[in-house]
Amino acid sequence: MPGRQRQFGIHMKILLAEDVRSIAAAMVARLGAIGHEVSVAENGRVAFHKFCASHYDIILMDIEMPEMNGFEATTHIRSFEATQKWAWTPIIFLTSSNSPENLVTAIEAGGDDFMVKGLPEPILHAKMKALARIANMRQQLSIANSELHEACKSAENARQQTAKALDDLRCAQAELIQSEKMAALGHLVTSVAHEINTPIGAIKSSGKSIADALDDTLKNMPQLFNKLDAPLRHRFIELINHAKRSNSELSTREGRAASLEVARRLEAAHIEDARRKAGLLVKLNVQSLLDDTLPLLRHAECELILDTAQSIASIIGSTRNINIAVERVSRIVYALKAFSSADENGEMIDVNLRQSMDAVLKDYQSQMLQGSKVVRQYEEIPPLWCIREDMQQVLSHLIHNALQAMDYQGTLTVGLRRLGDEAVVTVSDTGCGIAFENRDKIFDAFFTTRSSGEGCGLGLAIVRKIVDKHQWRIAFQSEPGVGTTFSINLPYPKTKS
Ligand SMILES: Nc1ncnc2c1ncn2[C@@H]1O[C@H](COP(=O)(O)OP(=O)(O)OP(=O)(O)O)[C@@H](O)[C@H]1O
Ligand SMILES: [Mg+2]
Repeated sequence: MPGRQRQFGIHMKILLAEDVRSIAAAMVARLGAIGHEVSVAENGRVAFHKFCASHYDIILMDIEMPEMNGFEATTHIRSFEATQKWAWTPIIFLTSSNSPENLVTAIEAGGDDFMVKGLPEPILHAKMKALARIANMRQQLSIANSELHEACKSAENARQQTAKALDDLRCAQAELIQSEKMAALGHLVTSVAHEINTPIGAIKSSGKSIADALDDTLKNMPQLFNKLDAPLRHRFIELINHAKRSNSELSTREGRAASLEVARRLEAAHIEDARRKAGLLVKLNVQSLLDDTLPLLRHAECELILDTAQSIASIIGSTRNINIAVERVSRIVYALKAFSSADENGEMIDVNLRQSMDAVLKDYQSQMLQGSKVVRQYEEIPPLWCIREDMQQVLSHLIHNALQAMDYQGTLTVGLRRLGDEAVVTVSDTGCGIAFENRDKIFDAFFTTRSSGEGCGLGLAIVRKIVDKHQWRIAFQSEPGVGTTFSINLPYPKTKS
């Protein structure tokens, strides 16, 4: 009850509205004797004003009074209470006229009880206690009600704050996802630029070398052909054709060994400056034609012959480099296309995993070297509802990696089995294994341990994208020097859609 706190109990604060002084004095004496505090109002109006100014535990109200009778005073008090939202103060009418009309009017005006004056003390006291008790309960109810109301208000506030916090969180999450996507895209673009930059650099410098060498060749060629007779011209052309056809590129160590061997043979044949000439012949990759070359090396114009051959070797080498670089760029472009199309949605169908696996194995069969073995550990499993091209891509990258890890020689074991509601596909190799420090990186786009031109590090990034798209799960186990097993868990969807 806001504003008014009452102390109910034996000692009450009573407002007595009574115009007859002697009666009022007697009541004050009687009630005071049992510990109550009584304030007297000589008519209804005074009683109303007193009530408005202070609070009382109970009101004893006479009916007939000058200026404002008890009924009117009660009506005013109740209206005032309504505006103040106070609890209902008990009002007992005390009258000398115990008529039914008076009783009805008193109750309708807002009274709680009706008694004749001169009632024995204990009865009046008991009635006052009973009404005070009800008022007390009503007050507690009112307090509980307002507390409940406050609690509801704070709960609502808390709910609104939580809803707002949730909204803010969602916005922050969306921004985070967006910025992560942008960061990933930035990383990808940087990696692509880096990957493509190397071959483009090679193309550029090879182009320049070709242009320079072409100048020298065009200058030397007519002079050279004038000085060589027909058979030697023929030998020279043969030499160049052989160099052009030769595809095998020697490693630095092989080249050095070949140079030493050719130099030894040239020295044995009494050719001057054998080492330099040997180096050039090996560069042209014509060491197998050494005997045919000797007449050219013994010719008076040997230096011109070698200069021209060197220019031509440079053109041949640069052209080869350009081809390798272009091959690399187109491989990157192809892999990037596969990487971006991993997001696309193809047609969902029932895919027979056994057929998919066999089709991929067939593609790689010709690359496996002698002595290699493919072990198929297939269980009968139901077809999986998915995109066939996605499945083939995944299997193809895993099998290709497995073969590369074994240098195309070893045992490749592929498995298909059912585990609960899932199909499980495994690809194992007896290859080099994955170094411990690389395990966290193998699914990153452009992470590769292969030498330049052998791989661009997109295979497993594509696999991861497809696996995530279908909510499959991929894992691997690897032991360096022993081999690696990749496994994919493919849940059978509950409904096909
Ligand atoms: N079966 C495996 N055994 C050993 N290492 C593996 C195996 N599979 C993947 N790796 C390692 O993970 C790296 C990343 O593989 P990923 O397939 O993504 O790229 P890549 O094979 O190097 O190039 P790409 O697949 O684009 O031709 C490989 O370079 C290799 O180091
Ligand atoms: Mg790969």
